[in-house]
Amino acid sequence: LIASTTLTSFASAALAADVPSPNQYYWPKGMNLAKLRAHDSESDPYGSEYYTSYHKKFEQLNLQEVRKDIEKVMLTSQPWWPADYGNYGPFFIRMAWHNAGTYRAIDGRGGEEGAQQRFAQLNDWPDNASLDKAKRLLWPVKKKYGEKLSWGDLIVLTGDVALNQMGFKTLGFVGGRPDDWQSELIYWGPGTTFFPNKSSFQVGQNGTLKHPLAATHMGLIYVNPEGPNGDPDPVKSAAMIRLAFGRMAMNDEETVALIAGGHTFGKAHGAHPNSCLSGPPVANGVEHQGLGWADHCIKGTQTADDASTSGLEGSWSADPIHFTTQYIDNLLNNDWVLGTSPTGAHQWHTKTDDKIAPDPANPNDPSKMRPIMMFTTDIALKTDPVYHKILARWAEHPNEFADAFARAWFKLVVRDMGPKSRYFGSEVPKETFVWQDPVNMPAKPINQADVRELKKLIAASGLSDRELIKTAWAAASSHRVTDHRGGANGGRLALMPQNGWAVNDPEELKTVLPKLEQIRDKFNAHSARKVALADIIVLGGSVGIEHAAKKAGVDIQVPFAPGRGDATQDQTDVNSFNLLEPTADAFRNYYRADADNTPPLNALVDKADTLGLTIPEMTVLLGGLRTLDVNSGHSAAGVLTKNPGVLSTDFFTNVLTMDTRWQKVAGQEDLYEGYDRASGQKLWTATDVDLVFGANPELRAVAEVYASDDSKAKFYSDFVKAWTKVMNLDRFDLQR
Ligand code: HEM
Repeated sequence: LIASTTLTSFASAALAADVPSPNQYYWPKGMNLAKLRAHDSESDPYGSEYYTSYHKKFEQLNLQEVRKDIEKVMLTSQPWWPADYGNYGPFFIRMAWHNAGTYRAIDGRGGEEGAQQRFAQLNDWPDNASLDKAKRLLWPVKKKYGEKLSWGDLIVLTGDVALNQMGFKTLGFVGGRPDDWQSELIYWGPGTTFFPNKSSFQVGQNGTLKHPLAATHMGLIYVNPEGPNGDPDPVKSAAMIRLAFGRMAMNDEETVALIAGGHTFGKAHGAHPNSCLSGPPVANGVEHQGLGWADHCIKGTQTADDASTSGLEGSWSADPIHFTTQYIDNLLNNDWVLGTSPTGAHQWHTKTDDKIAPDPANPNDPSKMRPIMMFTTDIALKTDPVYHKILARWAEHPNEFADAFARAWFKLVVRDMGPKSRYFGSEVPKETFVWQDPVNMPAKPINQADVRELKKLIAASGLSDRELIKTAWAAASSHRVTDHRGGANGGRLALMPQNGWAVNDPEELKTVLPKLEQIRDKFNAHSARKVALADIIVLGGSVGIEHAAKKAGVDIQVPFAPGRGDATQDQTDVNSFNLLEPTADAFRNYYRADADNTPPLNALVDKADTLGLTIPEMTVLLGGLRTLDVNSGHSAAGVLTKNPGVLSTDFFTNVLTMDTRWQKVAGQEDLYEGYDRASGQKLWTATDVDLVFGANPELRAVAEVYASDDSKAKFYSDFVKAWTKVMNLDRFDLQR
């Protein structure tokens, strides 16, 4: 198998080459704010508009023409990486699957959008070996269409073309994925070594995998084909598959459909031992031009039957470039025996070893036929009783298999794109799926005069500013830019499971939401235009904030854009929504120590990152919210003001002053008390995520801006902008 590379060896190389190293290199436990800096658009060569306007360019494409160009590439073998059976289709499917397959449901990170597989570290993961060549094959197509066709869309479209060309009908193709321009900083696992190094295995003794990870090994998309950490035990392997595919939002049926559908095509490559291959692209000299895994054991011209990638070798089917049910039939109808590939990797062969599969370099030569094979992960599908039952049903009903694979593939490649309103192009399937989190939009939305009327009704409802602001934040801050799920739109705060999340103070919500619902019903009873609860919740936040600023003598207007809709309980997949539940939300000073949480300071950065906030936005929002007294459970921690409920800069002035001495509360994780240095009087309590704005030099620098005497106007203006940004995170209609 592919040689492992340690992450630390990359870091040492950076030092040796006399290049600056980040502070984390010297103080690995220091706070890393780099993720939030990535929300700036400066490294985007198309400029700041690209992200929200890419789809307009994409819609100018003639997809049929692009499809033809891709097909031509697919069927034209190149001497520098010859196509198996004269068709790159299976290779391209693997490329698309590995791009989309990094998606993980717990935090919405990974996935196809952004085409992160172009960059280290995904491009260099051992699991992505040789896919550098797949992307290079597609360069002429990318070059031809430039700005109109992102790599993310091109890769998914290529997978679609490959499936179609090999006889499989997909549900359709969705475009609209703008590219990233830098490697995203994502926590992929605790390990410092990559697969197949044994220490890259990240599953605990009792089968646990830390949140939010989905891959069982550092450097793999999901699981080890040979079995957990190389143990060729199909039962244990099935458990790993269920764990990893579950983390990617796939149920048992979808999992089997994907693996059986995918391994219908193509072959594994293991002609030479791993010692023949050079390192991944990032570790190779410039003369390799961004390609890795050069095979030093190839003598003369490379041929398709002389390729190495995973170290496993062979095809699953006797017809690897057509969609058939052979994978399922072969798996179920043969007795499989454990053996090894030419490089010594565990793989399974049939008892009879009949030579029924074509040779990749000479597919029409009967004298060169080869036996078929299976991985331990394939045998796992036969061994596991639930997976087996699904396979047995599909063996009887191949149409059901094709339908299940089409649906699972579609979900795989669009899962990270968010709701249907973010889909573009002429090939978007009409059908709506519950995993798309559908929302019903009012036929006639409200106008600005209605907004004024509604604001009066809300102000007269008897609800406090605190209740209104908390409710709006609870709704809108459930959004995550990582997969565009959640948010105020849909009014799901009033539905299960969101109305029961501890962070939202469910008992309080039970009194607040009915009052807002009454306002909606009252208004809708007399108006031809209809308002959604989602709009009222967000508008309530504006009413609360404007009033809380007025108490400080400041007149502000919180911009409000109507146009949200509500969803029904039936349109809400409770299990899938539960993944959005915050176990930490520093903006409400909420942190569940019992959850599988990252430490509070990381969780602060992580939450700000999933809200797409910059460092100043995170700072002004957190500081402002503290003075509004909207912590979860009405905790007083971090409410560093004598006037709670008044929007002010008090948090910043009080966290930065030298008049307060802070000390840890004995026996309490993450709790501190602040004492007046002169009188010794206890003034405040605070948590890590409060005090870090005085302690971390970069955050302190920003907090100083808002604490300065000349900052007042800036504070109110920046707070309103950042608040409005969060309220509108899911308003894709406004962003375009
Ligand atoms: C090939 C592992 C699931 C599509 C391979 C290879 C490995 C592998 C090791 C051989 C790579 C090489 O040496 O060239 C796994 C494991 C899976 C899994 C462990 C999950 C348990 C999937 C899924 C799909 C897929 C879900 C697509 C829906 C393919 C295709 C190939 C392939 C098309 C052939 C590529 C070629 O011919 O170049 N897989 N895979 N695999 N995989 Fe998977």
